[in-house]
Amino acid sequence: MGWIKKIRGALDDQQRGALIYSGKLLVFKQVPAMQRLCAFADELITAAFNPHAPEKAQFELERDEFLSLAASTQSRFKKHPESRKLFRSALDEIGVDIEHSYWDRLLLRILPHGDTHAGGLTSRAGIHRDTWGSNLYQQTNWWAPIYALTPERTIVFYPDYWSQPVENTSASWSYDKYVADRRQTDPRLAPSYPPAPQPQQVIDTTAEIRVVIDPGDMLCFSGAHLHASAANVSRFTRFSIESRTVNIDDLKRNRAAPNIDCQARQVKFNWFRHVVSNEPLTGEIRYVEENTISNR
Ligand SMILES: [Fe+2]
Repeated sequence: MGWIKKIRGALDDQQRGALIYSGKLLVFKQVPAMQRLCAFADELITAAFNPHAPEKAQFELERDEFLSLAASTQSRFKKHPESRKLFRSALDEIGVDIEHSYWDRLLLRILPHGDTHAGGLTSRAGIHRDTWGSNLYQQTNWWAPIYALTPERTIVFYPDYWSQPVENTSASWSYDKYVADRRQTDPRLAPSYPPAPQPQQVIDTTAEIRVVIDPGDMLCFSGAHLHASAANVSRFTRFSIESRTVNIDDLKRNRAAPNIDCQARQVKFNWFRHVVSNEPLTGEIRYVEENTISNR
């Protein structure tokens, strides 16, 4: 199977859903609003690390100074209305029906070279499926680099496991425990409680796919894909953005990726808010609709 599909222009929600719920990794090429978002993020990052080149600043600053600049830049980006506005425009340009979409926070991920700078907000994501945590099989992930990538500085997929279960800690992992741990831990240190459920078996990585896309491109994939951050040995810090969306029609009609190994008991509807109204997503939307259908 060719896992990667490149797209120029837009797909509607149904077309996109059909592809990603069957495991495709979609690359939307050179999305104009994403190009503007990269330029905006670059401006913000460059100003923060000035006079150091952002991708090299970790080698020129003291570790703590680098990590505190990274944290303040991430916070500024997350709170800035322009970030969300441009990201929303990018989703709109590639055919996402904003009125029917709920989204999670928009994050700037900063992944330093090596392990010496791994802090609470700069740690590498280990191998995981996002759905082990959210338990929401309509979850669609969005990922985009701000600067050029290399295979040593990108996101990695393990597509053999799209249809192969992996033993994991989804049954016992607690988001609340993770949040509590983060609040108590110095943000410059790696969290002691894992940010997502973990695999409990050895993963065969021989068929891994390292997706190298350009700034301005947007990668879209199901949250059920097994993936990780590549161990960054590139001698450049990686800057990328990410978010997740859920399409409400897919939720109501049960169009989703398959669940083959998650044993979480709760669904994290409340991680998502309506893109326009900011109303939280709740399970009631799904169940009310199901009742409505059965009462007809
Ligand atoms: Fe992830």
